[in-house]
Amino acid sequence: MAFRHFAIFAVILAKAEPEVCEEPHHLHLVQRQLQLLRAPSTRPWEEARAAAKSVASKLANEELYDLVRGSHFAWYGSPDPGYYVGNTPAIPRFRIPALKMQDAAQGFRATEVGTAGTTTSFPSMLALASTWDEDMVRLVASALGTEYKGKGANCILGPSINVHRAAAGGRNFEYLSGEDGHLGAKLTAAYVKGVQDQGIIATAKHFAFNEQETNRMSMDARMSERSQEELYYLPFRAAAEAGVGAVMCAYNKVNGTYACQNSEILTADLRGKMGFSGFVMSDWTAMHSKDALHAGLDQEQPGMIKKVPVVGEVGVLADSVIKTLDRSVVENAAVHVLTAIFRLRLDQDMGCTPPNCTQELMSDQTKATTRGERHEDIALRAATSSIVLLKNGNSLLPLDKGKVHRIAVVGNASADETHRTFVGKGSGFVQPDSSAKTPLQAIEEKAAKAGMQVLKPEGASVEEAASLAQSVDAVVVVVGTDASEGVDRSSLGLGDTSEAMIKAVAAHAPTIVLLQIPGAVLMPWREEVAAIACQFMGGVATGAAWASVLFGDAAPRGRLPVMMPETSADVIPVGQDEEVVYSEGLLTSYRSPTFRAAFPFGHGLAFTSFEYSGPHRLHKDCGVAVCVAVLVKNVGQRSGEELVQAYVHFPDPVGGDEAWIQATPDIMLKAFRRTKVLHPGESQTVRFDFSASDMKLFCSERGWVAQQKIEVRFGASSKDIRQTLATELAESE
Ligand code: GLC
Repeated sequence: MAFRHFAIFAVILAKAEPEVCEEPHHLHLVQRQLQLLRAPSTRPWEEARAAAKSVASKLANEELYDLVRGSHFAWYGSPDPGYYVGNTPAIPRFRIPALKMQDAAQGFRATEVGTAGTTTSFPSMLALASTWDEDMVRLVASALGTEYKGKGANCILGPSINVHRAAAGGRNFEYLSGEDGHLGAKLTAAYVKGVQDQGIIATAKHFAFNEQETNRMSMDARMSERSQEELYYLPFRAAAEAGVGAVMCAYNKVNGTYACQNSEILTADLRGKMGFSGFVMSDWTAMHSKDALHAGLDQEQPGMIKKVPVVGEVGVLADSVIKTLDRSVVENAAVHVLTAIFRLRLDQDMGCTPPNCTQELMSDQTKATTRGERHEDIALRAATSSIVLLKNGNSLLPLDKGKVHRIAVVGNASADETHRTFVGKGSGFVQPDSSAKTPLQAIEEKAAKAGMQVLKPEGASVEEAASLAQSVDAVVVVVGTDASEGVDRSSLGLGDTSEAMIKAVAAHAPTIVLLQIPGAVLMPWREEVAAIACQFMGGVATGAAWASVLFGDAAPRGRLPVMMPETSADVIPVGQDEEVVYSEGLLTSYRSPTFRAAFPFGHGLAFTSFEYSGPHRLHKDCGVAVCVAVLVKNVGQRSGEELVQAYVHFPDPVGGDEAWIQATPDIMLKAFRRTKVLHPGESQTVRFDFSASDMKLFCSERGWVAQQKIEVRFGASSKDIRQTLATELAESE
């Protein structure tokens, strides 16, 4: 209310002469408020589309061609100097800027020679997923938008949002959804809004079913419509509803047809069912035929690759080919591209035009601020929030300087100056800048202030670590494993000598294992150690984030976005054949009736504990299909936040046959909400409002079918259900 009045006041004042405000301060505030009142960062889609159609009809054929194919790309990941990973030329007479696209979702990847470390290496998408925090995701995305703008770019090739299927997927660290479509939908919407608030086009990728790297350029993912609708499409639907400007179609085939020329998924599903209004670009060299423009592809990226050392020119839309297309087909694709450009108001800021973008590309963005906060602080807050405390025996954490006087810090990731396990590899790689601290450096700094002695090994041997363990009060083992685009992980183990080292030191001292990992890992040693925490590639602030939680400056607030399997049999393996059939349907991750978890999806400890009570239905002031609430109380000794997860079980699923019923998961995540920081003894009522669509199941014959009988299961994880509320969809007061 106050803002509204202030805004009116601001508008009234603005019409008056400046002398109305005696003190400059008021004038400054009025101008600040007026700035906020300025047109939003986006135009309405209808207005953008109308402008796009009008302009496209006036463009020459060659100008239309420039909008539907990339230009100036050298070879993989190395654009020409002064260019970006993806480029289209400017068309100044209509104030159409060059499209300047860069990877990727966790930071601006340095491709210009000499610019490594000039952007913030934010936590990976999976690390952001483990925050389960839409506000945090939106803040990081806004900061990314600031840095992309500073680098002269106007399109980010992210977020990557595929729902994980195979636990060993090489790009799982890059995928914001983790193993759940609802989690992905919520966080994707936040990310898209955060980036596009800054006037940068976001690109939801990879549409669709690029859930593994093995044979990624050719494999054929085959799945049911129900699997699409109730699981894998959810994040992309959310991106479309959030107004995402672009979608990148994937390399692989879907049900027999390449994704980038698959009218079923690009036109019927993405535009028809999800209401996507922007443009579809191909993944790099993922276009295979000019017919793709008839199926729903709008832009070939990177376009004709000229400098290909081996196979000569690569690409589809060479001049000789594109000229054979009807102008109407090319114009239709160009309209989609222009609609996104006008939607995001890119015409209002032409920015630099490649190759004259060297100054922007050489700029250092690591000192940038967003919403008044320094990016290095945002990166630290996000990495710290992403830390998932899996186990905390005897409440060993946070370290108590009254009890712990000497610690040893060992492990292959403890002092690794290359920061190999801070960031995943491939097109999403962002080199941490010089402010990065190794976990050992960060721990030594905090330990010194706490008067705690830190011992560190000379070498990396298991024997030396075990020897140190015999003379300290606790051992911190920092270990990690990495992953890369283009190849799936060969195992879910930690590799190296890490497992041997963990077991060796745990035999001599209370052991705290800190994992820097790209996704699910096996932990056969978990019973032998006192505490375990994980970061899913936390970026530049990984080391500092560990120290912050270890010494209690911050409480752990992360939750697992993937399940940690008991054994390698408790995951879906990577498909090794050209055809990969998603025969498990929806029954992946925690939805599987057979997979056993060492640590379940949604699990994560705080430094205190909570009790849930009094689940009940709300009817008054509900306003949606189903409103429920549960009381959460902090029954521990320290303050903390609880992340309440609401899973829905349908006790009597209706819509399909017996096989369809068997294929319906026992529970599905439908909402999550974090309490405020609760002090010991403090309680909070947590409310969940479910829409009618939340209470539906999909079957291909009947579409979405409303379910009458519902059970809401309130949990601290998918396996730690605290309260259950049985109700009926149509239940009246
Ligand atoms: C890659 C990736 C895609 C990336 C693009 C440009 O092959 O699949 O995510 O944005 O090429 O580097």
